Amino acid sequence: MLSDKTVELLNGQINLEFYSSNLYLQMSAWAAYKGLEGTATFLRDHAAEELGHMHRLFDYLLESDAMPEIGSIDAPPTDFGSVKEMFQQILQHEQHVTARINELVDAAFSQKDFSTFNFLQWYVAEQREEEHLFKSILDMLEMIGTEGQGLFLFDQQLTQMAARRQAGGSSAADEAAPAESA
Ligand code: FEO
Repeated sequence: MLSDKTVELLNGQINLEFYSSNLYLQMSAWAAYKGLEGTATFLRDHAAEELGHMHRLFDYLLESDAMPEIGSIDAPPTDFGSVKEMFQQILQHEQHVTARINELVDAAFSQKDFSTFNFLQWYVAEQREEEHLFKSILDMLEMIGTEGQGLFLFDQQLTQMAARRQAGGSSAADEAAPAESA
């Protein structure tokens, strides 16, 4: 049986994963509006992944005889400045999510709730992977640049990354490595 505090924290995380999904979906709309179709597809797929993260928490609460509660979710911003600023904002957001997961892990451990502690290990690994993924994308953006054809080439790279993710055959590190241009 989960403590009230753990239920509250897990429901808070459900809210944050929902927000993450809405944030990336809004970023996808911004990218599509700017003509960056590869970036838009990559972010839209990532928005769907965040819903998967939310559902895992939702199911864990139900399996633990606790009730998931969907609270109100803040509206995301609609303007992200530039592509580089947008990916910087994503990395900062993921670092915030990591901090929240760490708080949850700490709370579970200090309550000797080893079931929740064990459940959360998937999120610990996932956050490490996501931070690495977005740091790698920022590195790639730095290398390619956004001047001249840079933005076009960057968007092509994200088209290829989105395709590899959809095929499900590569790790985050592989996805972030610049692929051969056609
Ligand atoms: Fe659900 Fe991107 O962390």
